[in-house]
Amino acid sequence: MAIERTLAIIKPDAVGRGLAGDILKHIHEAKFKIVAIKSLRLTKAEAEGFYAVHRERPFFKDLTEFMTSGKLIVMALECENAIARWRDTMGATDPAKAAHGTIRKTFGTSIQNNCTHGSDAAETARAEIGYFFSGMELV
Ligand code: CMP
Repeated sequence: MAIERTLAIIKPDAVGRGLAGDILKHIHEAKFKIVAIKSLRLTKAEAEGFYAVHRERPFFKDLTEFMTSGKLIVMALECENAIARWRDTMGATDPAKAAHGTIRKTFGTSIQNNCTHGSDAAETARAEIGYFFSGMELV
């Protein structure tokens, strides 16, 4: 299996509730390498750019408001099959449907306030990592 990188975000609901440490523990236990990590707050335009693929969805306005409501922690994670593994570690988008023991099942409170984001495919992962990190930060 190939070594991959994926973008992970700890969202404002989780950072605001002091859950970053607990979520990082899941990341370490799942044996991801954290290639790059930083904390930042998005502007509305930056959040709209990141979620541009969802622009026509009814939840777009609420989502971009939520994602600008506080600090995020963004990471480039690396391991074999990282994209699928991070999605498995997070669990389903809707915490109510996520598997037991996953981050979203344990900490998520709604389909929007689901604590974490992960890239859904190799092409998206490249674009999303590049949205937040420069080449030098990824060496
Ligand atoms: P994320 O994996 O970051 O991708 C898009 C986000 O939109 C998703 O997690 C949720 O936080 C949010 N969202 C809000 N409502 C929905 C919905 N009905 N379906 C999918 N995603 C939703």
